[in-house]
Amino acid sequence: MAATSANSQSAQLVKSHLAQVFAQYPIEVAHGDGVWLHARDGRKILDFYGGHAVAGLGYGHPRWLAALERQARQMAFQTNALPMVIRERAAARLVKFAGLGLNTVFWINSGAEANENALKLAFKITGRSKAVALEQGWHGRTAAAGAVTWGALEKWYGFPRTPFDVSFAPRDNPAAVERFVDKHTAAVIVEPVQGVGGAYGIGKPMLQALKARCDDVGAVLIFDEVQCGMGRTGAPFAANYYGVTPDIITAAKALGNGFPVSAVLLSKRVADSIKYDDMGTTFGGGPMACAVAEAVIDTIESESLLANVRQVSTYIRSNCVIGPITGTQGAGFLLGLKTSRPAKEIQAALLEKNILTGTSGDAHVLRLLPAYILNEGHVDQLRDALSTIPA
Ligand SMILES: Cc1ncc(COP(=O)(O)O)c(C=O)c1O
Repeated sequence: MAATSANSQSAQLVKSHLAQVFAQYPIEVAHGDGVWLHARDGRKILDFYGGHAVAGLGYGHPRWLAALERQARQMAFQTNALPMVIRERAAARLVKFAGLGLNTVFWINSGAEANENALKLAFKITGRSKAVALEQGWHGRTAAAGAVTWGALEKWYGFPRTPFDVSFAPRDNPAAVERFVDKHTAAVIVEPVQGVGGAYGIGKPMLQALKARCDDVGAVLIFDEVQCGMGRTGAPFAANYYGVTPDIITAAKALGNGFPVSAVLLSKRVADSIKYDDMGTTFGGGPMACAVAEAVIDTIESESLLANVRQVSTYIRSNCVIGPITGTQGAGFLLGLKTSRPAKEIQAALLEKNILTGTSGDAHVLRLLPAYILNEGHVDQLRDALSTIPA
């Protein structure tokens, strides 16, 4: 009883002091371990949502904790004006992990900031005035990132105007690319596997068409891999997964496994154009952020997590088309389960059975973004739960 009253008091505190901008799930998380969330009311919840694609290693991974503690004791923060080995070492580690020849890294803090800087570089390099994004794409809530986010202007953008002109191309029509991307285009920004858009794989033909057209007209191709990168497709990046290399990749979310860090990976052409002061940040490239990014990559590689993502993703696809699930889309652990009735209803029914999943911009897609350590036994629990939910 005392616990219940403490719960309602803390819920009250949350309501009175936080900006009310997030719809709230009916779970108050007390702690987590691995793929499990422990709610304050005693429930143990299997997490297929991963803190919105952030917890790639799961909660409390010992290597991640050790890296944080080690770096915090050694030097918790230092400005970019003072060189530090960890900053260089983590950048080299990220470049090697990607293996795409994007050999220069700019560290920053969040997905939106990474995209903001990527877009700025594209405009500076080309001296042009226009960006192209894809319908249903999501790139963040800052001025430039919001401008290229589908539907933002109508729903929440807030600024009186966008900083540049944007057109939105259909996400699945390679033949239309030429019409949208021309010699006035500075940047084309695309999530190779859309997250908010419904765990929807853009596919190789579309990405190849964008790449070819950008090369033809001299536009900068940006892959926003904030959600689909850092191993989530079962490859280091979706660029590896599809075999298409852009000029710039942005990464965040699983890169820090919960510690705020993002990165902009640059091709030689882009990197060669940068001058001192073109970009900057206080916290980006902080030693703790770099130490966790390095630990995340080490862990993905030493625990063969990419192979696990591929194997367990296949297992989900072949076992979870059951009950209200009619099909799957997406890649790796950015999977969409297509639903016969509104995904929100299926999400609520699963939560009743202590399984947390996500929804998306597509009302009939349930989004799975689990930790890379998820195993087939966990999927069996999801399958069994789905099989009891009416179609
Ligand atoms: C593909 C993509 N890009 C950018 C962002 C923005 O990232 P952040 O919230 O860290 O600014 C998100 C966040 O969900 C995202 O999914």
